[in-house]
Formats: sequence, C-alpha cells, structure tokens
Amino acid sequence: MGGAVSAGEDNDDLIDNLKEAQYIRTEKVEQAFRAIDRGDYYLDGYRDSAYKDLAWKHGNIHLSAPCIYSEVMEALKLQPGLSFLNLGSGTGYLSTMVGLIIGPFGVNHGVELHKDVVEYAREKLDDFIKNGDSFDKFEFCEPVFVVGNCLEISTDSHQYDRIYCGAGVQKDHENYMKVLLKIGGTLVMPIEDQLTQITRTGQCTWESKNILAVSFAPLVQQSRADGDKSDTVQLPPVTVRSLQDLSRIYIRRTLHNLANEDSQGRAMVQRVPQKRKRRRCRRRRINTVRPTWAKSQRSHLAKQVLSRNE
Ligand SMILES: C[S@@+](CC[C@H](N)C(=O)[O-])C[C@H]1O[C@@H](n2cnc3c(N)ncnc32)[C@H](O)[C@@H]1O
Repeated sequence: MGGAVSAGEDNDDLIDNLKEAQYIRTEKVEQAFRAIDRGDYYLDGYRDSAYKDLAWKHGNIHLSAPCIYSEVMEALKLQPGLSFLNLGSGTGYLSTMVGLIIGPFGVNHGVELHKDVVEYAREKLDDFIKNGDSFDKFEFCEPVFVVGNCLEISTDSHQYDRIYCGAGVQKDHENYMKVLLKIGGTLVMPIEDQLTQITRTGQCTWESKNILAVSFAPLVQQSRADGDKSDTVQLPPVTVRSLQDLSRIYIRRTLHNLANEDSQGRAMVQRVPQKRKRRRCRRRRINTVRPTWAKSQRSHLAKQVLSRNE
C-alpha cells in the first residue's frame, strides 16, 4: 500500500507532500508527524526508503505507508486526555505520535504479537524520549506495550476512547473490536479491504464509515492448538496518577510555557524593528483667547487709553 504521494528527501519533505495531497489536514496531526522522524523507526541501512510513501517490512518489523498513517491519525479525532489502544502496535511509531496529542492525562496502550517487535518498540521509544529533538516541545503520554495476541484480550478489560487496529480484521472479529470501545468512542480498522471508521453511538449501536480502500496483511489468528489453554492478554492497568507524577507534569508545563513565552518574546524583538522611544512631552495647557473676543477687547482697551489720553 502507499505510493499516493511523491517521495520526500527527509521527514519534513514527506510531511509537506502528505499535506499537499490532503492526507494530513489538521495542525495537530501535522505537528505530531513532524515531531517524529519516520527514518528513526527503520533499521540502519534502510533509512533512505523511510521518506517514500510505502509500507516497509523486515522480519517481524512492519510499518504501514505514510498516507495510511495520515488518514488514521485524522480519522481518530484525537484530543488531549483520551485513552488509546493500538492493536498490532508494531514499532510504536503510530503510538508515539498519538502520545504527543493525547498528552500526559491520556492513556496509551499497545498490544503486539511478537516479543522482538515489542522490544524494538521500547528501544525506539527510549531513544525518542532521550534524544528526540522535539520531545521537550510536547506534553507526552508514554505508550505502554504488552506482548500478546490482540484477539485474546481478557473479556473484563477496560474500554477505550480511541482504538486502532494495524492489521486486517476479519468480519467475524468486528464485534469483538467494537465492544472494546467506550460509548462515544472511535475505532479505526481495516476490514474487508476498507479502512473503516466506527463510532459507538450507544450500548448496542455503532455508526460506520469507509475512509479509504486498503490492502493490509491480516491479523494473525489465535496461535494455540485446539484444546490448549488460551493465553489471555491482560492490558496494562489504568492507574490514578500519583501526586509526584502530577507535580512533575505541572512543573514541566510551567517551565515549558515560560520557555515558550521567552522565545516568543525574543523572536518578536528580533522581528519587529525597534521603535525609537518618543519622549512623552507633557503639553502645558494654554488658555487661548478667542480671536473675535480678543479683537473687541483690544479695541475696548484702546478706546479706554485713548479716552484717558483725551
Ligand atoms: C502494519 S504493522 C503495524 C505497525 C504499527 N502501526 C507501527 O506504528 O509500527 C501490523 C502489526 O500487527 C501485528 N499483529 C498481527 N497480528 C496480530 C495479533 N493477532 N495480535 C497482535 N498483533 C498482531 C504484527 O506483528 C505487526 O507488527
């Protein structure tokens, strides 16, 4: 899949092309895409291909095409504070972008079948947090990845505001996916060769909309042999934030805002040519005499002088 937009020379170039072709339509999605270099999710030696609008597969590592991710990010309608579940979370590229939008009060979980891919995703996440140029500019909800088959999530699992499935879903599993959603939530998944956006409108009602024709590798079905005990997947817990965590978030936010104000102030000083400060001169109030009155007064005085002189 992919090839819908021309190849970029670097990440920014690729995002420019996705924007121009209307795959990226909102500012927050654009910012998330620019903040994370797709090339960082490629293995050494393959980076050159990262800025093409193409899917990439190497062993168990698999990334979808950038035009797909753009559509998915837009269709998820992400907002700060939402909970997100990524089924088939792979390298963590998409989960990390989502984390930049849902922010520190969100929930960001991923389930991935392959252990080596989860390890790869954790390494990439660590790299982004420690070395990412843009990490400090955002408030982030760090993704938590678990290994397991996403078709075997425990039935007592909590529900999410937003869900994405990164591999093809069979019609039989449509309801399984839909009940993981909170009422009012949105699920985006490839089903029957259509990237589909599903909104849960009530306890038993959903609305569905096709977004794009796609071709995805299917989700791997239950791996156990018949009769084996199921390896139920336990999703990470949704915990209440500790006081220490909250303090860290607010201190970070305050410092971030201060730094922003400071750099904005400095940018303004550089951009606007400094006006010469004009000395405020206080005008003395002068009581002017109206000319007509002055004229008659003058002639009156003159008359008086004249009569005195006479
Ligand atoms: C196209 S990749 C998704 C890549 C991901 N969106 C990213 O940002 O890197 C699809 C992923 O689904 C995983 N997968 C396939 N079947 C699965 C299953 N039943 N349970 C969990 N993960 C599965 C694959 O291992 C693969 O990593």
